[in-house]
Amino acid sequence: MAFINWSPALETKFMEIDLQHKKLVDLVNKLYDAMAASKGNEVMGPLLNELLKYTVVHFQSEERLMQSNAYPDMTKHKQLHEELKNKVLTFKQRFDSGQARITIEVMNFLKDWLAKHIQGDDVKLGGYLNSKKSAVAK
Ligand code: FEO
Repeated sequence: MAFINWSPALETKFMEIDLQHKKLVDLVNKLYDAMAASKGNEVMGPLLNELLKYTVVHFQSEERLMQSNAYPDMTKHKQLHEELKNKVLTFKQRFDSGQARITIEVMNFLKDWLAKHIQGDDVKLGGYLNSKKSAVAK
């Protein structure tokens, strides 16, 4: 069983965002599997790096959609992205210098943050983007 199982509760119903979220969930699951198999930092390091890089790509993509569709909650949503990005960046620096390890607590933090953010903030954004799309189609 995967660490995070994709479920309809995680769908924003906006395809571009959902596809990116599926990839993020996949990367978190890979990192978890490596941790559970007690892989060394030579395996965990690149996985953590890939997760961080893809998280940045994903946040930028959502932020472009918010900007081009004049999303009213953009400032708050971007701030949440910044907070997570900074936390993960700080963690990665500590990991790279040997001061931190990937533990179940770290994985649970990522899982809980993703679930809360996707089900709350991103679902709201997806609904807004879909309403803009149907407004254009009319
Ligand atoms: Fe999918 Fe707002 O992050």
